Amino acid sequence: MDKLLSSKTILITGGTGRLGQAFVRKALAAGARVYFTYFQQAGEARTLAQLGAEGFQLDLADRPAMDRFAEMFKSQVPALDVFIHNAAVSRDGMIQNMSEDDWNYVLNVNLKAPYYLTKELLPVILPLRQPKGAGKRGSPRKIFMVVSRMGLSGGYGASLYAAAKGGLIGLAKSLAAELGKRNILVNAINPGFMESRMTEKVPQEVRERCLQESCLASFSNPEEVAEFIVYLCSDQMTQVTGQVLHFESRRN
Ligand SMILES: NC(=O)c1ccc[n+]([C@@H]2O[C@H](COP(=O)([O-])OP(=O)(O)OC[C@H]3O[C@@H](n4cnc5c(N)ncnc54)[C@H](OP(=O)(O)O)[C@@H]3O)[C@@H](O)[C@H]2O)c1
Repeated sequence: MDKLLSSKTILITGGTGRLGQAFVRKALAAGARVYFTYFQQAGEARTLAQLGAEGFQLDLADRPAMDRFAEMFKSQVPALDVFIHNAAVSRDGMIQNMSEDDWNYVLNVNLKAPYYLTKELLPVILPLRQPKGAGKRGSPRKIFMVVSRMGLSGGYGASLYAAAKGGLIGLAKSLAAELGKRNILVNAINPGFMESRMTEKVPQEVRERCLQESCLASFSNPEEVAEFIVYLCSDQMTQVTGQVLHFESRRN
């Protein structure tokens, strides 16, 4: 019997992160062919490769490296069903302490890389044009931007990260409008607060406020978020585009 993602080819950036690893494992188990990028966690990347995924080391702040990756990827993978922009960095602090280098780094990794790689890989994401009158369109191709509620509400002491995620939401909504007629769905996913390397320095009082604002008094579980994204990648979801999908239990 076919699995949920049988016949899907998926690329996710940041496959070695907390959410990325959970997704790679679940997508493989659901039958997908999975490619991922990673930055520094070569050991985690090897573990995922042993499970059957194919990893590529890539610094998303390095434009020539992205060019080399895109050329190599297009030569290896003729058709990509789903592209998930998941890798991200944060540099937190009050605006007066944030340097232009900080700004460039956060914006390059979190916003410019999704723009640039989407543009460069579009030739393998675009579905073949159906002949006129061919009737029903095939499965949509999909692009997901992993964002944050800070992209909508701002983040105290996290202005660079919030600016990048807000930009990513604008990018997702614009691409949804541009690519809808080519049968490509583009959505942003807000996974909610998760324990991960990115959040390990979040102060205790901020964690407690998050819990107080949650109707369930809990954080998001990356395993469950990954399961949600597996569903979104599947042919069970074909009619949602241009949205911010919240995996959240917070009241506001
Ligand atoms: N955690 C949360 O509470 C939370 C809340 C809202 C949204 N999000 C979003 O959810 C996504 C996943 O977050 P996470 O918590 O799983 O983060 P994470 O565990 O810190 O993982 C971050 C990933 O990004 C990769 N990365 C970092 N710098 C990079 C660079 N310069 N070039 C290429 N890749 C780079 C890392 O690669 P290596 O590990 O190989 O170095 C890692 O795979 C992110 O987009 C994040 O903004 C997270």
